[in-house]
Amino acid sequence: MFAFDDDVSQAQSTPTAPVGDVAHLRSGGTSVVVDLAAQPHPAIVHWGEDLGDASERTLQSLAIAARQQRVSGGLDTTARLTLAPTEASGWLATPAVEGHRDGRGASALFTLRDTVVNADAVRVDLADDEAGLALRVDLSVAAGGLLRSRLTLRNTGSTPYTVQTLQAMLPLPWDAAEILDTTGRHLRERSAQRHDLTFGSHVRESRRGRPGADATLLLAAGRPGFGFEHGRVHGAHVAWSGNQRLLAERTPTGDVFLAGGELYGPGEIILAPGEEIASPELLGSWGDGLDQLAARFHAGMRARPQHPRRPRPVTLNTWEAVYFDHSLEKLLALADRAAALGVERYVLDDGWFRLRRDDTVGLGDWYVDDTVWPEGLHPLADHVVARGMEFGLWFEPEMVNPDSDLARQHPEWLFRGRAELPPSARQQQVLNLAHPGAYDYISERIHAILAEYPIAYIKWDHNRDLVDAASGPGGARQVHAHTLAVYRLIDELKAAHPGLEIESCASGGARTDLGILDHTDRIWTSDCLDPVERLEIQRYTALVVPPEMMGMHLTTPHVHSTGRTVSLALSGAVALFGHFGIEWDVTTISDADAVAVAEWVALAKRVRPLVATGRLVNVDVTDPGLDVRGVVGADRDAAFFTITQTQTLISSPAGRVRLPGLDDATEYRVRLITPGGLVQTPAQSPLDWAHHDTVLTGRQLAVTGVRPPVQNPQQAVVVEITPA
Ligand code: DGJ
Repeated sequence: MFAFDDDVSQAQSTPTAPVGDVAHLRSGGTSVVVDLAAQPHPAIVHWGEDLGDASERTLQSLAIAARQQRVSGGLDTTARLTLAPTEASGWLATPAVEGHRDGRGASALFTLRDTVVNADAVRVDLADDEAGLALRVDLSVAAGGLLRSRLTLRNTGSTPYTVQTLQAMLPLPWDAAEILDTTGRHLRERSAQRHDLTFGSHVRESRRGRPGADATLLLAAGRPGFGFEHGRVHGAHVAWSGNQRLLAERTPTGDVFLAGGELYGPGEIILAPGEEIASPELLGSWGDGLDQLAARFHAGMRARPQHPRRPRPVTLNTWEAVYFDHSLEKLLALADRAAALGVERYVLDDGWFRLRRDDTVGLGDWYVDDTVWPEGLHPLADHVVARGMEFGLWFEPEMVNPDSDLARQHPEWLFRGRAELPPSARQQQVLNLAHPGAYDYISERIHAILAEYPIAYIKWDHNRDLVDAASGPGGARQVHAHTLAVYRLIDELKAAHPGLEIESCASGGARTDLGILDHTDRIWTSDCLDPVERLEIQRYTALVVPPEMMGMHLTTPHVHSTGRTVSLALSGAVALFGHFGIEWDVTTISDADAVAVAEWVALAKRVRPLVATGRLVNVDVTDPGLDVRGVVGADRDAAFFTITQTQTLISSPAGRVRLPGLDDATEYRVRLITPGGLVQTPAQSPLDWAHHDTVLTGRQLAVTGVRPPVQNPQQAVVVEITPA
């Protein structure tokens, strides 16, 4: 039998570290317990379920129960996951902090200096005098139970310190054995993938200068088989719009954790003596099922003072209606039709500035093209406003076509790390907004256009990845500074133009993150308007982004990006779950279709208070051809669900579907509707409950449910649930 070199198989009889203070943060059903006496500095010993009003004695025991033994083959003190583990502490897994002083002084080992503990927040100040570093760790739990964590590293030494890694870490329960994250591409963002969380790390990096269409918004890990309704799952999101890293890791010494932060380029962050850098916030949420996890993200966002609270204006965006073909007559007719349909915001997309007749030219020259717009944008903007709509305008402030006056006059403002420009994308290069000249020019141009026209909304586009984003040949990496400059410019524009709203668009959802959404009001979820594709794109984006911040538009029936032909009912039902709009040349539709579109607009307006404040419910159905989702009001007084059939079902008629999330004891009236209030059932075979005054309790809806109508593939119905 194998012999231990000493008796490490016995439980240690004396604690290796003192018993001390334990912080217990509680809010919104979440508990975070921090062992402030852990060595070499504090450690989170629990993040997740509310542990109740625990006594000091039990919290201390909980902290002690988390400490490890020494094991054969290991260090004499087994290193553990702390708030900022580093190699010098014996932690041989992914560290929180790495850096050096010109190749030397890479060792860092933080010990506790100070703590400030409140009911829902703890601030821990750590330092390593030998290394000349100070590290602050901020943890807080917001009202809805969302955990926010941030590290701030300061160079207290006397020489420059190059930061390589700075990332927050959150422990997972050991039984979090299955990962869910998302990948994707242009037109198909946020495709889910699931796999085991085995020993080692699963790392997701964004190196595109923006999160990217393939970025995972959420790295989640839970008990195997977790779904939307049930199964404990934790997840994290990096609230940052530049390069970033998010990982899940399981160690052979009994720790499993999530970590995330900014991904710095080589030498990108060099702290002068006395300088500091803050990591982006790593946001953590958990739930019994993904819907509960998502609700915490939504609650956290909705609690912010800058959260858009007025009803989200129904928006018409001109892109797919006219593309670059800007004819005033056509755009005025589009505005007239939009107003008649109930649209409240009209957005003029790409194509209005100098020489911009296609996507090869003009980016950067932010002057209205007077060959196409001899009187400027006034005739259109005034017309839109006179019809009671807000006027919005497209910009792509960070981008430049080499065929532009800007690029010709200021080649030094373009990102490049070499003499040659980086590979182009969509015939464009990227402007370095960290360059003061470039920043001032863009700022002046946008301010000037905003001052001249009644613009209430900017669609802020960003159509390419950043490649070799340095300040010039042989220059320093700039993604960090550029990202901060973008945030600053947006903040300044909003401060100077109160009420201005901004959308973050990046060929659809390639810059979707809660960092940009701290500065803007919504994202353009995807350039793919196909509702069949949108079902998944929207479902997984909404794990993190509140639905009222996600642009969702009715599509042209013949979808431009997929070639599929879809019904208005499907398009409308899918678009209800966010900031509703239209992306379609509605001047071409018949009067009968216009009535139907207007009815969808009216329905979207009726349900938008629910969408903006309620809880998303994704029903875990077993039939792959069926999609059941809904929004339940925050006080469970009302809800709507959609029942969508994406393909034929084996069972026809289908089995009953549950509509969960309402109050068990309350009786609700349940109506099957299409906009206009018409009951939709096959004429030859009515669905009885749809013709009956159907009243069910929340419990009956959640447990037993209703029979969905027989539908063809790619059809959807809406079920509206109101107090009986
Ligand atoms: C990409 C966006 O996602 C589209 O909606 C549109 O604004 C185009 N860019 C315009 O170039």
